[in-house]
Amino acid sequence: MPLVTTKEMFQKAYEGGYAIGAFNVNNMEIVQGITRAAKKLDSPVILQCSASARKYASHGYLVAMVKAAAEETGLPIALHLDHGPDFETCKDCVDGGFTSVMIDGSSLSFEDNIAVTKKVVEYAHAHGVVVEGELGTLAGVEDEVQVSAEDAFYTSPDEACEFVEKTGVDSLAIAIGTSHGAYKFKPGQNPELKFDILEEIGKRMPGFPIVLHGASSVDQNHIKMINEYGGKMPDAIGIPEDMLRKAAAMAVCKINVDSDIRIAMTAALRKYLAENPTQFDPRKYLTPARDLITEVVEHKIKDVFGSNGRA
Ligand code: G3H
Ligand code: 13P
Ligand code: ZN
Repeated sequence: MPLVTTKEMFQKAYEGGYAIGAFNVNNMEIVQGITRAAKKLDSPVILQCSASARKYASHGYLVAMVKAAAEETGLPIALHLDHGPDFETCKDCVDGGFTSVMIDGSSLSFEDNIAVTKKVVEYAHAHGVVVEGELGTLAGVEDEVQVSAEDAFYTSPDEACEFVEKTGVDSLAIAIGTSHGAYKFKPGQNPELKFDILEEIGKRMPGFPIVLHGASSVDQNHIKMINEYGGKMPDAIGIPEDMLRKAAAMAVCKINVDSDIRIAMTAALRKYLAENPTQFDPRKYLTPARDLITEVVEHKIKDVFGSNGRA
């Protein structure tokens, strides 16, 4: 099956009260780990690449790998640019086979964010590609830029409506208390998301798909596994799964996960290499890493996002 945009996926997800998982990919094992889970569960899926992923793996390899996965699985798969930093990067991805791009103007002024997002929307729509915008600032680390919790701010529903109307974006990432990376909340801290903002946006723009970034749950068993086999991850708390289920039943149609995949991959690799110190065949140590990614993604799709059986 050729790559698809997120248009139909989001419409069905909104109406069905579930969400589509958007997982970051950087290499073949990650692409295969994710898409094997989606295939097993007959789920649509979004594979997304950041600017750093394009730098690491190169655009051509990423597109070819994701196309191969779509052909092999026959699933509806969208290839999405995650946190597009500027118009040129978005244009490169539109021209180079992506079916969806994000323009992240969240660090700009409201007016400048509107201007650059509108420019990307005009170009992308003319080429059959959909666009995600972002309004509000998440705490955490993104492409080596660190935003502290104090500098993060929540999305205003008034601004969200004005932004969508003026730019014509197809979906919008909002800030309601999630953050990027493995360390979202301190141990003992009560994780809290601003569901009132999400509810208000849902009421004001019925049917419009909202995106949740920074949504990894940070599996405590995987953190323990990393530390048991020589790693040093400080106590880390992610977004509770119940909150993600609640968001998926509301206006959230796309839930972004990267850290959970990194943590699973690292945990499996560390365990395998610690237990098999003489092994030097990458196929041997990457197999458990790929398998644990599949396990994590299966759990997300089936037990949290609810997109199983919706392909
Ligand atoms: O939100 C950012 C994603 O986790 C991508 O991270 O820029 O290190 O590839 P990256
Ligand atoms: P996590 O760091 O919580 O996995 O978030 C990933 C993300 O939002 C990618 O855009
Ligand atoms: Zn993000």
